[in-house]
Amino acid sequence: MKLEYNNPADQAEEVCVEVNGLWKIFGKKAEGILNSDLRFESKETILEKTGNVMAVRDVSFSVDRGEFFVIMGLSGSGKSTLIRMLLRLIDSTSGSIRVNGEDILKYNKKQLMDFRRHTTGMVFQYFGLFPHRNVLDNVAYGLKVRGVSKEECHARAQEAIETVGLKGWENYHPSALSGGMRQRVGIARALTINPEILLMDEPFSGLDPLIRREMQDELIELQDKVQKTIIFVTHDLHEALKLGDRIAIMRDGKVVQIGAPEDVITSPADDYVREFVQDASPAKVLTAGGIMEQPEALLYEWQGPKAALHTLKDIKEDYAFMVSRNRRLLLGLVTLKRLKAIIQNNGSFPEEAFEPDPPTTGPDVVLEDLFPLAAEADYPIAVVDEDGRFMGEIQISSIFENMIQNKEAPTDE
Ligand SMILES: Nc1ncnc2c1ncn2[C@@H]1O[C@H](COP(=O)(O)OP(=O)(O)O)[C@@H](O)[C@H]1O
Ligand SMILES: [Mg+2]
Repeated sequence: MKLEYNNPADQAEEVCVEVNGLWKIFGKKAEGILNSDLRFESKETILEKTGNVMAVRDVSFSVDRGEFFVIMGLSGSGKSTLIRMLLRLIDSTSGSIRVNGEDILKYNKKQLMDFRRHTTGMVFQYFGLFPHRNVLDNVAYGLKVRGVSKEECHARAQEAIETVGLKGWENYHPSALSGGMRQRVGIARALTINPEILLMDEPFSGLDPLIRREMQDELIELQDKVQKTIIFVTHDLHEALKLGDRIAIMRDGKVVQIGAPEDVITSPADDYVREFVQDASPAKVLTAGGIMEQPEALLYEWQGPKAALHTLKDIKEDYAFMVSRNRRLLLGLVTLKRLKAIIQNNGSFPEEAFEPDPPTTGPDVVLEDLFPLAAEADYPIAVVDEDGRFMGEIQISSIFENMIQNKEAPTDE
């Protein structure tokens, strides 16, 4: 799901949702407030002076196709209002919303209905299931109201039910299901219409922590499969850091920072964000891919031992990683000691040139999970992608340096 480590050239970046200068003021004086200096006042002042609520304040962001975009903030910060405006369930006071380049605020009734039925799917916190209908009918509901035939409704609902792991539960009523399972029904319902964009408003907030983590993992897997554009609202920082390709942090209706999880952790935009992230342990948040470095040099499989020795001497290191002809597949770790022995025996590059089982890790692994590897490692850890291609290396000492550095709140004022 973390797209940033895939070959960026493979992913044509395409904007899917684009929000510009979006405002929402609840109340009769909305326009007047927006057109006066009152709009710069705090939410409390505006409420006191006008009785109106400043819910969303001049918000702009864009979401790429296939991106997992998280909107995070405390309760009351405007998240639900914002995500509902994206569906026009709430009318915005001012601003623009473009989806696939189209101005959805200009849509007429029919276009809007099409947009809600085909382009978007929404999952809410409190499931929104019909208690008197079974799982299959609940999931099929979204299709039924779209006038799809009964057979097709059921076939597609069945498929979605299997995708979310509820096979066998088709005929049960929601009351027979646990919270986690009910939420899956909600997700399946959103998936049946195969929407391009999935909007989720605190879908897991009502669940027990354990079930919640499970659902998060499943959503990550699901996203690998279905590759939707997801806009996901949460008030939980750990959830945001775990799921988001990027996170927008909201406070009092404003977006105060947008960034990748690591940016948010390592350079919080202001005190509000800093406070938010302070209790997030860097060991749980920073990833191998985020702290890895590029080595001074790599060895290539066509190089003989003497050329390799030359390279090591040149970079003044006693090890280097060797990669294959396509320059990317990691073959192993070559050490100075082993090289010298080979050269003495006049050998080419046999198996023995390599350190057995050099430690490797994936880019998304968090520092905490590197500790066991680090404890055993004599040399740096190689970061490799799913195909075993070399991405970078991590010096053992840098694991701990990164944790300490990020524990001290940066002072950038
Ligand atoms: N229909 C409404 N009328 C008046 N105020 C509202 C309405 N809906 C939400 N609000 C207010 O707007 C602010 C943002 O609410 P909301 O978007 O629900 O926040 P969040 O989802 O982040 O908890 C809150 O102060 C809330 O009380
Ligand atoms: Mg909300």
